[in-house]
Amino acid sequence: MAADLAVIVLAAGKGTRFRSERAKVLHRAAGRSLVGHVLEAVRPLGAAQVVVVVGHQADEVRAEAEASGVGGLTTVLQAEQRGTGHAVQQAMPALDPAIGRVLVLFGDTPMLTAPTLEQLLATGAEVTGAMLTAVLDDPTGYGRVLRDDRGDVARIVEHRDASEEQRAVGEINAGMFVVDRAVLADALDRLGDDNDQGEIYLTDVVGIAADAGHRIVPLVVEAAEVAGVNDRAQLAQAAAALRAAHAHRLMTEVGVSIVDPAHTYLDVDVVVERDAVLLPGTVLEAGTTIGAGATVGPNSHLTTCEVGAGAVVHSTRGVEARIGPGAQVGPFSHLRAGTVLAAATKVGAYVETKNARIGEGSKVPHLAYVGDATVGEGANLACGVITVNYDGRTKSHTTVGDGAFVGCDTMLVAPVTIGVGAYTAAGSTITEDVPDDALAIARSRQTVKPGWAARQRENG
Ligand code: UD1
Ligand code: CA
Repeated sequence: MAADLAVIVLAAGKGTRFRSERAKVLHRAAGRSLVGHVLEAVRPLGAAQVVVVVGHQADEVRAEAEASGVGGLTTVLQAEQRGTGHAVQQAMPALDPAIGRVLVLFGDTPMLTAPTLEQLLATGAEVTGAMLTAVLDDPTGYGRVLRDDRGDVARIVEHRDASEEQRAVGEINAGMFVVDRAVLADALDRLGDDNDQGEIYLTDVVGIAADAGHRIVPLVVEAAEVAGVNDRAQLAQAAAALRAAHAHRLMTEVGVSIVDPAHTYLDVDVVVERDAVLLPGTVLEAGTTIGAGATVGPNSHLTTCEVGAGAVVHSTRGVEARIGPGAQVGPFSHLRAGTVLAAATKVGAYVETKNARIGEGSKVPHLAYVGDATVGEGANLACGVITVNYDGRTKSHTTVGDGAFVGCDTMLVAPVTIGVGAYTAAGSTITEDVPDDALAIARSRQTVKPGWAARQRENG
């Protein structure tokens, strides 16, 4: 716990360069909003307070920040976005008297990590403050860091206010710094808006503090980690980098085989266990978990799914589905919300399931729709079985008992129950319950007209 530390996260801006109806910090990269990524880096610091400055789409951004569940988090409103310095001015009154140091972050730097922030705090511990910088080949758009003779930061000058000579400086302000609270408060009081945008720049705080004799020490870090996301091209780059880092962790720290990481799309909250194999074209989203030794893909797209150990999920779309250990799914299966496949089940090609529990060892191998259903253990739903679960107004339930055999092309008109060990004949339309161990035949008898076809041909 850092009892005297407060973090201020600026997330009020519109993000004009995004050309979006939605606030920039709400846009998502690898399954998490930009501001959510920043808050994840903040979480381990254990700061006493985390103040998120909201403005554009304040309600949505506030909800997103609160959903992170980071301790000590509050939000303040910056009703009018008059610049980054103005944003921090709005946050200062929210700080408790016990706060001695303030870490200021931007909400649009999703690659930031907790270890880097720890390092920044350590660097600033013995001096007035410290800030993260990076050296870029193309620093266009960023504030440039101007250093004094001893190597401390003397001033930051924004790209649009910089001279040709200053623009030639490759070291940029990453937008994250920690500073003594009193020094920050004093400098904030003196900020003006005499710049190209007529905004109140936070960056001027550094120059004001330095002019007053305070030391602000730069900490140079990898450019990629502190990159700000200002448009959708940068968003795509950031998402790719976040996915690559997550895939790398899974491969090197957990022991997951990812055949082609560049063509495997994993949200940062996806959990994969040892010896699982992820094949190309696989998209795993929103808290999906993959058990040990499972094989997923090629081309499976799972959203909030749970895949058990040793299961195989080939070319499948799944949403809020649970796939048991050793189950075999696909190719071309569609598991919709509420699907629960027990261990060693099989769901094959062109099978759609929804709100369906399929018991251990049961099979739905081909071309079926199983919706609003409970299937027992060791049952077989043959090719073309359809649960007729919807009459246009209400949904009804189908129950299939353990060991039942539902023949090809059976319509199960719900509500209906097929008993334990019962059979239905192929092509049946079952509208009434079938008792345990019975056979139900519900189709018209075949009529054969001998010679009919030949007579047709003779008559021309
Ligand atoms: C800012 C820095 C620049 C730095 C760069 C690093 C300033 C003046 N410039 O520029 O030196 O190199 O970040 O990425 O600080 N915001 C508010 N309220 C406002 C304006 C902005 O909350 O009134 C928030 C935005 O939502 C965003 C963050 O502050 O999360 C940064 O704003 P942005 O406009 O992206 O600043 P840059 O131009 O990138
Ligand atoms: Ca930015």
